[in-house]
Amino acid sequence: MPTLWPAEAIWEAVAPSLPGFTVEVLAEVDSTNTELMRRARAGVAEPVLLVAQRQTAGRGRLGRVWHSAADPAASLTFSLGLSLSPADWSGLSLAVGVSLAESLHARIRLKWPNDLWLDDRKLGGILIETASFRDREAGRYAVVGVGVNLSAPSDGATSIPPAGLRELLAGVQPGQALLQVVPALVRSVLLFERVGFGPFQAGFNARDALRNRSVVLSDGTSGTARGASATGALLVHTADGVAIVSSSEVSVRPAA
Ligand code: BTN
Repeated sequence: MPTLWPAEAIWEAVAPSLPGFTVEVLAEVDSTNTELMRRARAGVAEPVLLVAQRQTAGRGRLGRVWHSAADPAASLTFSLGLSLSPADWSGLSLAVGVSLAESLHARIRLKWPNDLWLDDRKLGGILIETASFRDREAGRYAVVGVGVNLSAPSDGATSIPPAGLRELLAGVQPGQALLQVVPALVRSVLLFERVGFGPFQAGFNARDALRNRSVVLSDGTSGTARGASATGALLVHTADGVAIVSSSEVSVRPAA
């Protein structure tokens, strides 16, 4: 069955708050993030939602690969590109996660800093990249990339087992899921631009998959996760005191 994309409904919901906004659906691209970053570097920095039915070189955080299912209807992959000039960028990926989870389902949890989890399995991920403008001092072009498994992929060796959104929303199609998340995502990103992570902190902590659990960081630190700070840093209580983890280069996982 060909995928139906509610491009017009999304445009109608978003364009009033994002002048010049367009929706573009590609049958195939290497990566929606790579494509929007390419365009930004070439000077094209319009607000756009770029959706891919299939990605051939999807990317995740920390240089990881984002594997797309062979069946385009089994996953949702898109990037939102827009100019942003927040006073402080910290916490943006958490704010995006809160928005996606709240739009999709009450059972979805967030794993700092950019994963959507269901019952300790990975349902989706967020990759945010930015490009500076050639001709402007302030602001950057932000590319907010989102990948969500609709069916859990059976292939691909991932350290965290995968989950699929259809476990929560039976039979959900990519277009439905896209319409369910994008208008709220744009509102959330624009709210973040105005006031930062503050309004998202309680929402993150309510869904924090690691809260009060023993965790290990990729730099070897271990302790107990105690939620996100007012700027989106992960707070880890260790034997030596509270570690405030804000580096995007650090990863964290529950202790075995
Ligand atoms: C992660 O899990 O580390 C983040 C995964 C982000 C995947 C999405 S799919 C759409 C967009 N294009 C990409 O290449 N990556 C993001």
